[in-house]
Amino acid sequence: MANDRSGLDVARLRADTRGCAEVVHLNNAGSALPPSIAVDTMVEHLRREEMIGGYEAHAQAAERIESVRDSIGLLLDTSGSNIALSISATDSWDRAFSAINFASDFGPHTKMLASSSEYASNVLPVMQLARHHGVQLEFIPDDENGITDVAALESMLDDQVAVVLINHCPSQNGLINPVAAIGHALEREQSNAWYLVDACQSVGQMPIDVTEIGADFLSVTGRKFVRGPRATGFMYCSPRSLAELEPFPADLHGAHWDPDGYTMRSNAQRFESWEKDYAALLGLGAAVDYSLALGLDAIGQRITYLAKEMRRMLAEIPGIEVLDRGIEKSGIITFRHERIEAAAIVAGLKESGINVSLGTPEYSQVDYLAHGVTSMVRVSPHVYNTREELETCAEVVRGLSR
Ligand SMILES: Cc1ncc(COP(=O)(O)O)c(C=O)c1O
Repeated sequence: MANDRSGLDVARLRADTRGCAEVVHLNNAGSALPPSIAVDTMVEHLRREEMIGGYEAHAQAAERIESVRDSIGLLLDTSGSNIALSISATDSWDRAFSAINFASDFGPHTKMLASSSEYASNVLPVMQLARHHGVQLEFIPDDENGITDVAALESMLDDQVAVVLINHCPSQNGLINPVAAIGHALEREQSNAWYLVDACQSVGQMPIDVTEIGADFLSVTGRKFVRGPRATGFMYCSPRSLAELEPFPADLHGAHWDPDGYTMRSNAQRFESWEKDYAALLGLGAAVDYSLALGLDAIGQRITYLAKEMRRMLAEIPGIEVLDRGIEKSGIITFRHERIEAAAIVAGLKESGINVSLGTPEYSQVDYLAHGVTSMVRVSPHVYNTREELETCAEVVRGLSR
């Protein structure tokens, strides 16, 4: 049996999370239960907007609003000036991708490389460029551990490779891709390719050092392991991206309309929109600060412990196959039963008050196809979940498996 070495006070974490009294929430890779402080912060700001007006409430909270990027910077070990706020991971990704597209002349001479576990919304724009402009999309093979093969990637790099897309932690598997080793490989090969990392599922559940990864862009959503509100997201933008790229189309927050033209903001805010949901943004900031106070090392240790326990419990159930690949594993646990439909297991758990989620191929076709998976159950604990909750989940699955 694994041990929890995080030192976190779980009773306190649960008291800080009102939803724990209501449900066994094992769908943090979908959308986590927020700490109450995040929701209270949002509600408080909405009330101020109601009572004094939106712009006036913004002005009152301006200092805190401005510092949310600094909090996020701490989460990624970078400066707040490299953070662009958005409304989702996909929104972040699209802003990066369209800026790259705007600065490039993509055509049949262009290659884009993607990890085999890439998320649909990240690959679809590349597929559009392939269909309409002849861009070549190639998937990087996995190594014997089922993660992106760094040596294979290195051998695929040439002057035609313009973009490399890597999923840090896929939503449909517990593997962790070697994003820092990939960054180093790109550097070794002196590749000019833009390096986009999808860290939607990793940020908030483990420490991240974005400089070590070497990404040009790293996109994140607020609602998953970061435990922020829905419709929040953010993106890291590298110094190179700020030196060479501008968003298209720009808005008046990202650029200034001068008498004789326009000037881009010098920092990552050039990738933001002027209008924002400030209540949600403040809620996101509160959730990030809550995580920072717990410490990302401790959070990572507890999630790793819970995930290990969950995998062990599930693997002991006859007929269950745990699908997670990789060397180091994330807080995402995926499995299927040899006979029983994944959807029936998800529904059975729901009836017992346990939230998990159903995975299907349209989210990551290449990965599902390569492994012959047509559907799966995904369990994703967070720090506030208990070992007892995992045991209950395993018991229900065992009952459904009979
Ligand atoms: C790995 C991964 N990338 C990207 C996304 C998209 O995130 P969003 O819905 O915030 O755009 C998800 C959402 O589930 C995801 O799991």
